[in-house]
Amino acid sequence: MTIRGFDLDNVDALYRLDSAGTFTSLGGLPVQCAEACWDLAEQVGLPEIEAISNIVVTGLGGSAIGGDLLRVYAAGRISVPVVVNRDYVLPEFVAPDTLVFAVSYSGNTEETLSAYGEARAKGASVIAVTTGGKLGEAALRDGVPVIKIPGGIAPRAATGFLFLPTLRVLQKLGVLPGKVDEITEMIELLKNLRKKLDPETPAEENPAKQIARKLHRRIPVIWGSAGTTEVVAQRWKGQINENAKAPAYWNVLPELNHNEIVGFQFPLEILNQVHVIILRDEHDHSRVHKRIEITKDIIKDVADGYTEVWASGNGALARLYSLIYTGDYASVYLAALYGVDPGPVRVIDHLKKELAKQ
Ligand code: PA5
Repeated sequence: MTIRGFDLDNVDALYRLDSAGTFTSLGGLPVQCAEACWDLAEQVGLPEIEAISNIVVTGLGGSAIGGDLLRVYAAGRISVPVVVNRDYVLPEFVAPDTLVFAVSYSGNTEETLSAYGEARAKGASVIAVTTGGKLGEAALRDGVPVIKIPGGIAPRAATGFLFLPTLRVLQKLGVLPGKVDEITEMIELLKNLRKKLDPETPAEENPAKQIARKLHRRIPVIWGSAGTTEVVAQRWKGQINENAKAPAYWNVLPELNHNEIVGFQFPLEILNQVHVIILRDEHDHSRVHKRIEITKDIIKDVADGYTEVWASGNGALARLYSLIYTGDYASVYLAALYGVDPGPVRVIDHLKKELAKQ
């Protein structure tokens, strides 16, 4: 049911709609990131692995996106591949020289439990990232190191807990350069950004509220760029789906210049309802910047419109998280515009319950 004319500046109404404390979790992200880096990651025992040939992060949904953040962040920094696996089975290359992060917030996601079992059977070094559940039990039984994260929030609200400890483990293993100043910058940036994005900041000064208004009653299409904002585009899409209970689609430049852009011709009455978000980062490839300018021109009279959202900060982590944080807040404001509680994801719960019976 849609509440017509929901006022995004009515802070009490926003909090009333939010039964699971999504705004509180969002506001707590800077503290969560600090805890994830400086407490949780320090407590975990490191696996004994002589040489790492590849890294696999296996998980689903809110527990998998941290793997994509790691993949994008690590790509230009380390010489071994990071692969994100969202499946019951692992790639054939997984072997004793593979480091596997099995990530499940609940610890009960069947695909992740299956992949965990495969990783063990293949002799890979495994680290579990979880609040507990069956994954926590299995890891304890198998003597597998566990990054034990706090429960009580939605998996998608726990990216700090789910992603940053994996990054710190790679730093501690000497696989990633051990720079911590980038993390500190990211946390400081999030603290400042929170003031701009939170419910108390009125819509005229709040970019997340403005974006939500543009996406309301439209089909959001989110575009990022390969190697940088691609993971953010995927994150925005997932957050709009799960928080606002609305469809959203994402794609990546330059690839979309070779297919998706051709599709901006028919059917016009649907394309008119598409609002494109273009995620921008000064560090994107210079040719991608040029591509974006031409692409905007192609879609401008066909789509409902487009909005460019620029990353802020210096380091790669700050830039990624500045966009993620804006999208997270925007998705919750969009939920409010649809009059829907951002917290519960009843469809996912239903699917899991039905599968458990079979
Ligand atoms: O955000 C969510 O609730 C989902 O996308 C879950 O993360 C997904 O279903 C996997 O569950 P878990 O994170 O507990 O492994």
